[in-house]
Amino acid sequence: MKLGVIILAAGKGTRMRSALPKVLHPLAGRPLIHHVLDAAQALGAVRVCCVCGHGGQQVMASLAERDCDFVEQRERLGTGHAVMQAMPSMEDIDRVLILYGDVPLIEPETLNRLVADSAHTALGLLTIHVNDPTGYGRIVRNKTGSVCRIVEHKDAAEPELEIKEVNTGIIVAERSALADWLGQIDNRNVKGEYYLTDIIGIATANGVEVATTTPSRPEEVAGINDRVQLAALERYYQQRVAACLMRNGTSIADPARIDVRGTLVCERDVALDVNLVCEGRVHLGANVRIGPNCLLKNCEIGPDTEILAYSMIEGTCVGAGSRIGPFARLRPGAMIGDECHVGNFVEIKQSQLATGTKVNHLSYIGDADIGEQVNIGAGTITCNYDGARKHRTQIGDDAFIGSNTALVAPVAVGAGATIGAGSVITCSTPAGKLTLSRPQQLTLEHWQRPRKDKT
Ligand code: UD1
Ligand code: CA
Repeated sequence: MKLGVIILAAGKGTRMRSALPKVLHPLAGRPLIHHVLDAAQALGAVRVCCVCGHGGQQVMASLAERDCDFVEQRERLGTGHAVMQAMPSMEDIDRVLILYGDVPLIEPETLNRLVADSAHTALGLLTIHVNDPTGYGRIVRNKTGSVCRIVEHKDAAEPELEIKEVNTGIIVAERSALADWLGQIDNRNVKGEYYLTDIIGIATANGVEVATTTPSRPEEVAGINDRVQLAALERYYQQRVAACLMRNGTSIADPARIDVRGTLVCERDVALDVNLVCEGRVHLGANVRIGPNCLLKNCEIGPDTEILAYSMIEGTCVGAGSRIGPFARLRPGAMIGDECHVGNFVEIKQSQLATGTKVNHLSYIGDADIGEQVNIGAGTITCNYDGARKHRTQIGDDAFIGSNTALVAPVAVGAGATIGAGSVITCSTPAGKLTLSRPQQLTLEHWQRPRKDKT
């Protein structure tokens, strides 16, 4: 069976009050429509076609790298009309599943159930029971409980308004039958739109049985119309991520104060304090502890390492048993070894620190290769940029760099070398020796501080 998916995404999203098309607003760091496309692809859909309208160029650009077709719905004449636009892209497909670009958290597991439950017939609906059905299409069943049709809220008569079973909008149908039914719908209704939901009445009038399936959780079929709903769904998503992490052996100080925008993988006994933001792919080894208010982006932290409060770590690998922060900033290309210490107000980028090296306070390390057991004193700066090019600094094992040293790259400090505090190092320094560049200290014996005349 070849499954195709049509994603409706032509809506204006007026209530977002945004220049950005609604389906491009991010949830967990990614555009809404990307979540829907992921679900479609997880089902093994052989083709996905997005129906774009408002801001179509931007939507297409955002999906340029993804495997999907596009059609433009120039006039927004209703959900049935929108689906019709995508049917040419489904010609070789057996069954068509209809999803929505603004219903981001639909689970592949639910969709698989919908497809399986309706395998014996030409039409399957995902429906749900709600306490307040305002605005939804109502599922009208006959005396024996079979679905007859869907009536939209605005077109519903008094008794139909009482129906609590509603249409989620998600439908699966045999492709050729769907094309046939779509050809029969019209726009003679209160909204003057071509309703997709009219195909249900047409199908049942032709003796088709309609299968229904219910999602595992209501949030799966929640649509987003404004930023309040978007924020609510974001919290729901994050709580689920947190619950999953905790069930797999991670401690989270407050599951309401973690944001994972990407994938976070934690080995056993990781502990996360409040207000962690993770972006991209983050991997934390066993027993890693993350202090409050940290940002981790595309990084790998080795076992037993501790990241202290207010640290920002991006595009980095940190080894085992190290201590980073508080207030540390590791930028892309920082490779921190095992048992290292990187302390407060230290920035490191495109640099390697081998085992046991310490940069504890107020330093900038850029484009440097630093050996093992090196001690970098407070206020050390690698002057890596000459205004045009970047240059590297090399520091051998066991070197000791005195406080407030400026290392003017390209420059190398030999293994075991000591650099006197306050030096400006412009030439490479020999191994095992003390090098310093510093004016001699002198004391003027007869100097007197000027005094004010007493009048
Ligand atoms: C629709 C269903 C209703 C269901 C509800 C669930 C119809 C006629 N009604 O109603 O039974 O209970 O969803 O939320 O289908 N869209 C287009 N092009 C169009 C019209 C809509 O792409 O011409 C897209 C919208 O961007 C939106 C989705 O289709 O994502 C639903 O359209 P909307 O007008 O919001 O339908 P509802 O009135 O909510
Ligand atoms: Ca809607």
